Amino acid sequence: MSSVETVEILGSKTIHVGYSIQSHIVSEIVRNKASSTYVIITDSNIEKAGHLASYKAKFLEELAVSRPESRLLTYVVSPGEANKTRATKESIEDYLLASGCVRDTFIIAIGGGIIGDMIGFVAATFMRGVRFVQIPTTLLAMVDSSIGGKTAVDTPLGKNFIGSFWQPDYVFVDVSFLETLPEREFINGMAEVIKTAAIWDEVEFTRLEQYSKSFLEVIRDRKADGTVDLTPLRDHILKLVLGSIRVKAEVVSLDEREGGLRNLLNFGHSIGHAYEAILTPQALHGECVSVGAVKEAELSRYLGILSSAAVSRLSKCLSSYGLPISLDDKILKSRVNGKTCPVDVVLKKMAVDKKNDGSKKKVVLLKEIGACYEPKASVVSDQDIRVVISDEVIVHPFVSPPKKVEVVPPGSKSISNRALILAALGKGECKIKNLLHSDDTGFMLKAVAALNGATISWEDSGDTVVVNGNGGDLIACPEELYLGNAGTASRFLTSVAALVKSNGDLNTIVLTGNARMQERPNGPLVDALRNNGSEITYLNNEGSLPVRVKTGKGLKGGRIELAATISSQYVSSILMCAPYASSPVTLALVGGKPISQLYVDMTIKMMEAFGIKVTQSETEPYTYHIPQGHYVNPAEYVIESDASSATYPLAFAAMTGTECTVPNIGSSSLQGDARFAVDVLRPMGCHVVQTETSTTVQGPPVGQLKALPQVDMEPMTDAFLTATVVAAVANDPKQTTTITGIANQRVKECNRIEAMRVQLAKFGVVATELPDGIVIHGIDYKNLKTPEAPGIHSYDDHRVAMSFSLLAGLAPAPVIIQERNCTAKTWPGWWDTLHTTFNATIDGHESSSSSATSTVVNNGDKSVVVIGMRGAGKSTLSKIVSQVLNFQVTDLDKVFEEKENIGIQDFIRKHGWEEFRVREEKITKECLSTLRTGHVLSTGGGIVESAASRELLKQYVKDGGIVLHLHRDIEETVSYLSADATRPAYIEEIQAVWKRRECLYKECSNSYFFSPHCSSDDEFKTLNASFANFIRTITGAPAPIPDSRSFFVCLTYKNLGDAKSDLPDIGIGADAIELRVDHLASFDEDFVGEQVSILRNHSSLPIIFTIRTKSQGGLFPDDDIAKIESLILLAFKMGVDYLDLELTLPAALLDSVSSKRKFTKIIGSHHDFSGTLKWNNVEWENRYALAKGLNVDLVKFVGTATTFADNIALEKFRADHTEIPLIAINMGEFGKMSRVVNPLLTPITHKALPSASAPGQLTIQEINEAANLIGLLPAKKFYVVGTPVGHSRSPALHNAGYKELGLPHSFELFDTGSVQEVNEKLFKSPTFGGCAVTIPLKIDVIDQLSELSDSAKTIGAVNTVLPLAAGGLRGDNTDWIGVAQSFYKSGVPKLSKQAGISGLVIGAGGTSRSAIYALNQMGCSTIYLLGRTASKLETVKDHFPSSYNIKVVTTAEQALGADPVSVIVSTIPGYSDLDSSLLESITAFLGNGKSQSLFQPTLMEAAYKPKVTHIMKTAEEHGWKTISGYHMLANQAEEQFKLFTGMSVSYDLIYNAVAAE
Ligand SMILES: NC(=O)c1ccc[n+]([C@@H]2O[C@H](COP(=O)([O-])OP(=O)(O)OC[C@H]3O[C@@H](n4cnc5c(N)ncnc54)[C@H](O)[C@@H]3O)[C@@H](O)[C@H]2O)c1
Ligand SMILES: [Zn+2]
Repeated sequence: MSSVETVEILGSKTIHVGYSIQSHIVSEIVRNKASSTYVIITDSNIEKAGHLASYKAKFLEELAVSRPESRLLTYVVSPGEANKTRATKESIEDYLLASGCVRDTFIIAIGGGIIGDMIGFVAATFMRGVRFVQIPTTLLAMVDSSIGGKTAVDTPLGKNFIGSFWQPDYVFVDVSFLETLPEREFINGMAEVIKTAAIWDEVEFTRLEQYSKSFLEVIRDRKADGTVDLTPLRDHILKLVLGSIRVKAEVVSLDEREGGLRNLLNFGHSIGHAYEAILTPQALHGECVSVGAVKEAELSRYLGILSSAAVSRLSKCLSSYGLPISLDDKILKSRVNGKTCPVDVVLKKMAVDKKNDGSKKKVVLLKEIGACYEPKASVVSDQDIRVVISDEVIVHPFVSPPKKVEVVPPGSKSISNRALILAALGKGECKIKNLLHSDDTGFMLKAVAALNGATISWEDSGDTVVVNGNGGDLIACPEELYLGNAGTASRFLTSVAALVKSNGDLNTIVLTGNARMQERPNGPLVDALRNNGSEITYLNNEGSLPVRVKTGKGLKGGRIELAATISSQYVSSILMCAPYASSPVTLALVGGKPISQLYVDMTIKMMEAFGIKVTQSETEPYTYHIPQGHYVNPAEYVIESDASSATYPLAFAAMTGTECTVPNIGSSSLQGDARFAVDVLRPMGCHVVQTETSTTVQGPPVGQLKALPQVDMEPMTDAFLTATVVAAVANDPKQTTTITGIANQRVKECNRIEAMRVQLAKFGVVATELPDGIVIHGIDYKNLKTPEAPGIHSYDDHRVAMSFSLLAGLAPAPVIIQERNCTAKTWPGWWDTLHTTFNATIDGHESSSSSATSTVVNNGDKSVVVIGMRGAGKSTLSKIVSQVLNFQVTDLDKVFEEKENIGIQDFIRKHGWEEFRVREEKITKECLSTLRTGHVLSTGGGIVESAASRELLKQYVKDGGIVLHLHRDIEETVSYLSADATRPAYIEEIQAVWKRRECLYKECSNSYFFSPHCSSDDEFKTLNASFANFIRTITGAPAPIPDSRSFFVCLTYKNLGDAKSDLPDIGIGADAIELRVDHLASFDEDFVGEQVSILRNHSSLPIIFTIRTKSQGGLFPDDDIAKIESLILLAFKMGVDYLDLELTLPAALLDSVSSKRKFTKIIGSHHDFSGTLKWNNVEWENRYALAKGLNVDLVKFVGTATTFADNIALEKFRADHTEIPLIAINMGEFGKMSRVVNPLLTPITHKALPSASAPGQLTIQEINEAANLIGLLPAKKFYVVGTPVGHSRSPALHNAGYKELGLPHSFELFDTGSVQEVNEKLFKSPTFGGCAVTIPLKIDVIDQLSELSDSAKTIGAVNTVLPLAAGGLRGDNTDWIGVAQSFYKSGVPKLSKQAGISGLVIGAGGTSRSAIYALNQMGCSTIYLLGRTASKLETVKDHFPSSYNIKVVTTAEQALGADPVSVIVSTIPGYSDLDSSLLESITAFLGNGKSQSLFQPTLMEAAYKPKVTHIMKTAEEHGWKTISGYHMLANQAEEQFKLFTGMSVSYDLIYNAVAAE
């Protein structure tokens, strides 16, 4: 048996720790704890992992031997925080009671913290307390929750609110449980481990730092069954578990009931808990504590207690174990799906912390790594906490600046990077002080350690790095050296790699980085090294990382030529490694003047400090001689502070009259910005003393700075921002300050020259831009304005933020500075320095954007990129996108041809494919940045062939843009392309191309649309319409959830292709249509994609995408989680309206899916097919809580009824759960009733379907009939009123509709010319359901109504009256819908006004008003109104707002002069003889009809007698498409039916009723 370590807690050694110690655990319990009943309680995940079965077997075996009279019970609960409830506790207690458990019961809790806490609480109160043991199975539980005796359950108002202290008899920690623990849970537990070391044990913390890399590697290396082999980490994990347990046990023993000391364990939890309260359950406890710990460390730093180095050490350590260290962490953000932590809410949550002292908040402050500031939590002000947790700061006026200060800004980045390489290659120990902690230094330290080049350790709690170099003796390591996006590290290490020796058989090493790094150039350096004997191979992109370097080759030495016009880092890299070459090196920089000479000089000077003297050639320019040798490490090397950073404290002195010294930058510095004090501040009136190594500035009395007429800041460009804010308060009315030589500052983090001008203006300071500079018109500081909210924009640029924080302090009132965290790039502690050293008052401020609650933003006017194969319909569909969104189409192929001034084919013939792809990428990049908004960018089919272009597209998606992949059946593409003689293609060739590109398109896009085969013009029209709907959905205008009785129909076809003609009928009366993916013949993504498209094309109903698994009563394999995930992602890409998400899927999947939805609404569902869950079962409650946690849009719970009473229980559940829209029904014969009662999206079947999708499913007729019988759907009477109405088709049509849907209503004629009569006899009747209004009542009826729709108001007439639920009547006008719908259905899309399309209305009667309203709604920007009588026409025109742009036409001459029109509505009677002049005008318009790219000119005839009128005939002769009056009537009636009943009826039924005579 493995060894067991015991730890003492509260005086006894009851914590046992070991690896694979099951036998020990079981025999210990059975031997020492007599009981008649042992109960193991665990959760279903632990059971699934096999632990329950193995413990059960072991216990039974042991009991049989030692205690045959005792029994063993087991109980399994659902996992997850959602189940840590009083309800679950009750269910456990009920089980114990029912099983006859008494006071001697012994409970064994096997599980994570949730099981431990909850079962501990059960043990604490069951029979007034029974004995129990904890067997923690998560890392968090092992090191934290199982130790200390705290037990609890959650309540809806907060976590752990109900509980007690109850010590377990033992805690058995078997680390082997971690082998089955999921990765995220593992990492989660590390937060507590690191936290504990941070407050108590620096040695352990250092050990943790060293193990981080192998930790993640090992726990991410999962076996096929999801478990992990911990052997390589066994000792490490045992140690860290024991380390944490010892600390916790010690602290708990000293302070069992949380008097003070025990609070230290709460480091990171004050802020972390507040975050957790908001972000749970999407974010885990440890994840929140990790961010909280960083924030609390920052708070300690802000209060001047903790050093910057310690803060960065803590965050590095947490993040190296895979934990988030800020709320901006990408993974965390996507997990919480847009939830934000508003500062006020966080502070409020912090107020309920148990540690607090009344209203005073207490936080554990760190003094250094391994030690706390006080032996308890310290009182901290809200103001200080607010600064630390806010994204923005408010800088108050500097009222009491110090007289004299000394400031050491963070170390210079360039010097830090060089010092590390030199010390690592050097011999002996070197203590490096004031090192800047950056990505570059971090990666270099790791790499150097991995190559065994040096040992690295820390002193002064991280402020000093001790490098012990092996004198350049590096040996190969097997793991790849990952360098993230750290540019300097990659360049410096490339030469270092060439020096590495082989390690046994290992004779290569690999340098790699992230995606961005894999594009950064490294070619010239590699070329130079290759020419000097190194063997370096590019593994991916030519000229960039990753590279494989052959070890043992070394550098030959001699003459090395290097092109140094791109980066001076190449030069420094070779210079620093050159002493280790086999012969002395002469480095010649060729290809023109080398860039950034200053940095080369810096390298040479630093090499000298490490003992190697480089000499410059006397005969050749830019050529250096480097002797052989090795570096001798100085005992100590203090990194000079960053001179650019130093300008801020010095400028502070200048602006406030303070004396400020920077003690480690002086005249001997090689940093250009070191001249700032002498060259800029001194002439502005400061007293400057600069020695070789220090700089002191004494500012003049406030208000007396002088302008600097002209300064060339070329040698110190980064300091120009600081100079600019100083110049802003140089009060000299006649003199401006002109800064030049800073053109490069336009292409830094932002266009800094522009940024300064724009932000200065907010202070009332005028600046003007020069191409390479800026002119500042300084003013008296007393006249500065206070920038208004939202304050100063920092452009995420550290220098902008820091410079304006200085000017802010001189403004009359507090100033908001946005994005305060951007200073972290070079000076993470800047705000702390401003606060503690410069005595400035600072407040936190909530950014307006972060307090917004909306989770998904719509696309706005962001350009849409369209990709896909040639022939996939990109041009046509791009046009529709442009029409729907009012965007402009830009064809990138055309842009290419214009730019290059040559056809693409010719270009390729001349320059080859490769060159084409390179230029194509360049042009795409340009277009993506210059045409950011308002464009549809249609790309060439092969764009995805280039890796660089793919990155561009992926980045566009990452930045929130839409890349839409259009696709159509590949065989169709082939036949389409072969029909086009100008684009010759061969079938096999196209298919091969598709095969190659398919996954590339997928990888680069976030939206997908498949065009199914269209066999007729009509199908093509509906395709366009469904595509337009799709575009609206994916850009942010999805259909809302129905708010009244509604239904969805479930499609159980194998292939919708066979059911196209049935689909419209099947959807009758439904509000959504469900695609049961699990019923489909294939789960292939192409096939499923096609099915969605077919559905879209044959039904306009919102789509519910459902993958029902076998265990939930469907056909989809339960264990194919990967497939489920990929299909769900496909559904999101296709913008389906609803996704049915089974709540029993793995938590990680639920999480990731719910965070990736965009506008798709999620229905969290659970189907209890087995019928085991009654409605009072706690499982429903738990699932509901889980759904709530996932932020679903709807919940769908389906039980199984075995008695009628199950329906009653369900209704009680429904009544108690109203927070989220709920669909709840019972399956089975007994459950039918619940389908009738369910108010929202009830699933229905249809007789044309192959099968009902669930037992007991009803048709819509059946449901409506039953609803009427039980009083849920009272019969109503509807009428058509007016006179004469005798010939009206309305009764026939509506009554046919009622019959089709099983509605109990009736529709009658009511012939009258009197509004009074209608009012008395109909409106006042309790059964009145609504009426259609005709002549002569359309205007008169308005007086009786309490409310009018917009259309009725604008048209000035009512054709529909409806009773309102709250009493009163509403008038609507659906005539215009008849017009608009008729056009839409015949292929005229809804247009944007900017499309500039004109329409014509003929006639000036009542219908013409509806027609004008319709054309305006359809998007016509000009509407001509033609008739005989000018005065009548003018009256109609005046009735509408001027924005309708109506132009009256009365003569043929005017008609001929009008703009061409594309749509016409004729509203004059069909059988009347047309007078010849009117006919002439009409003919003029028809002759000048304008085809649009997407539709033919179209005329709608409002008259329906005769069926084909004279005007229609004339129109057809002129090539117009025509629509008869019957369609207008039918479309109007369809809309009216919907208003009256809330349901849709089939169009054919209506049309036939209308047209039947
Ligand atoms: N009492 C305390 O002092 C204290 C301290 C810290 C946290 N807590 C509480 O602990 C809870 C969190 O505990 P947790 O992080 O352990 O979560 P947990 O209990 O939910 O376990 C995490 C997940 O991992 C699964 N799991 C556990 N062990 C497994 C294993 N060996 N193999 C496979 N799957 C396994 C669980 O089923 C669960 O889904 C919170 O409710 C928190 O309030 C209590
Ligand atoms: Zn904790």
